[in-house]
Amino acid sequence: MNSVVFTIEIHEKNSKEYRKGSIMLNKEMEKAYNDQINAELFSAYLYLSMASYFEDKNLSGFAHWMRLQAQEETGHAMKFIGYIQTRGGRVLLDKIDKPAQEWESPLAAFTDALGHEQYITGRINDLVKLSGEINDYASGQFLLWFVEEQVEEEEAAGEIRDKLELVGDNPHGLLFLDKELSARVLTSAQDE
Ligand SMILES: [Fe+2]
Ligand SMILES: [Fe+2]
Repeated sequence: MNSVVFTIEIHEKNSKEYRKGSIMLNKEMEKAYNDQINAELFSAYLYLSMASYFEDKNLSGFAHWMRLQAQEETGHAMKFIGYIQTRGGRVLLDKIDKPAQEWESPLAAFTDALGHEQYITGRINDLVKLSGEINDYASGQFLLWFVEEQVEEEEAAGEIRDKLELVGDNPHGLLFLDKELSARVLTSAQDE
């Protein structure tokens, strides 16, 4: 009889230890992930707004590139949503800010896009920093994908921005770039 009681006590203790362990998401980390979902969905909203701007200027290649970019950002939000749920956390969606609707030029739009990606990189770095401070090594591992992704994001937006600067006021150059951007496809990794 005594041995049965003992077994149950051990089981309960282990089960509490499990809940306190690294699998359950820390509340501060959960909040930071929820804020990041909002930032990723805002990114999608911003790029959809840029796509509409380009469509309005009959630059359908630029618009196509931005629509795919928005799709990619939605995929990032979904990754965070899935991860919070895997770690037993709660996803709480908030309102998404209104994005800009007009830009002075394609160069101005891509300068904004690059600036926005740099801002997102800073946010991802803050998430990595927080995961280290609370010894959440699983989060550190999960976030590495985003660290690498941000290098690609800044490179992609920066390259187009630089080309637009080269093109300047030359309509031929702009149309050439528009054709180049119309060929963009999402890779499966980006589409996850
Ligand atoms: Fe993103
Ligand atoms: Fe991005």
